[in-house]
Amino acid sequence: MRTTVNTFKKAKENKEKITMLTAYDYSTAKLVDEAGVESILVGDSLGMVCLGYEDTLSVTMEDMIHHVAAVARGAKNAMVIADMPFMSYQTSVYDAVVNAGRLIKEGRAQAVKLEGGLEVCEQIKAIVKASIPVCAHIGLTPQSINAFGGFQVQGKGEEAAKRLIEEAQAVEEAGAFAVVLECVPEKLATLISEKISIPTIGIGAGAGCDGQVLVYQDMLGLYSDFVPKFVKQFRNLGQEMKAGFADYVKEVKEGTFPAKEHTFKIDDSIIEKLY
Ligand code: KIV
Repeated sequence: MRTTVNTFKKAKENKEKITMLTAYDYSTAKLVDEAGVESILVGDSLGMVCLGYEDTLSVTMEDMIHHVAAVARGAKNAMVIADMPFMSYQTSVYDAVVNAGRLIKEGRAQAVKLEGGLEVCEQIKAIVKASIPVCAHIGLTPQSINAFGGFQVQGKGEEAAKRLIEEAQAVEEAGAFAVVLECVPEKLATLISEKISIPTIGIGAGAGCDGQVLVYQDMLGLYSDFVPKFVKQFRNLGQEMKAGFADYVKEVKEGTFPAKEHTFKIDDSIIEKLY
C-alpha cells in the first residue's frame, strides 16, 4: 500500500514513528522501498552526495526532475517527496506552483518539499491549492547557507526558539502535511512536535520528533566529505565498496577475472573458419 498524506496524519494520531530516507536513483529507491521505509525524499542534497557540489545551491529543476523520475520508477510503496531546488519557489508564488507541478507531472513525485517558514507560506498555500501536498522544512535550511553564514544548530536562543515555534505553526496553518526540523535542539523539537498537529520529521532534532529522515549515503558510510554529528552510521558500505573495487582491480590485473563461468560459448568449428 502506497504511503500517502493520510498515512502521515494517522501515524501522528497513533503516535507511530514515520521513516524517511533520501534516494536519488532507481536501484537505491527500490532497496529503500523494499526495506519498508515509508517515504523517500529526493533531496537537493543530490547536489552534494551525487553531483559533488560543495552545497545545494547549484541544483536545477532539470537535475531534480531527472532523479525524481528515476526514484519514482523504483518506489512502489513509499511516498516520493521531491525537493524544490534553490530559486524554484523563492522568486514568486507563480514559479512555486509551476515548478511544484513539474516535479509531480514530469518527475511523478507524490509531494514536494521546500525550505523556509513564514516567508514561504504564500507559496505553500498556492501549491496546496493546486492539490500538491507540501512538506515544509525549517531550522537549518541549507539553501540559506550564505544568509546563515554556515551550518549551525538553529533556535538556541529564546527569540530564535520562539521564532521556530511560530514558523512551525505558520507552515501548518498554510497547509503543509509535514515539516522537517533540521538541526534543532532536542527539547525544542519535542515541544514543536507537541504544539502542532502535523508530523515533524527530524534530522539532527532528537527522538521527540514524529519521524526521522537521513541522507542514505550518510547512514551507510558512503559519503565522507562531511559527517554531521547527528548521523548514525548503520553500516560502513564505503569500506565494503572500496574493498570490492580493489579486488576487481587485482583480479583483472592478474587475469583471474573473468573466469570460465562468466563467459559465453561458441562452436569451435565456427571459430576455426574465422582464422
Ligand atoms: O536535501 C535533503 O536531503 C534534505 C534532508 C537533509 C532533509 O533536505
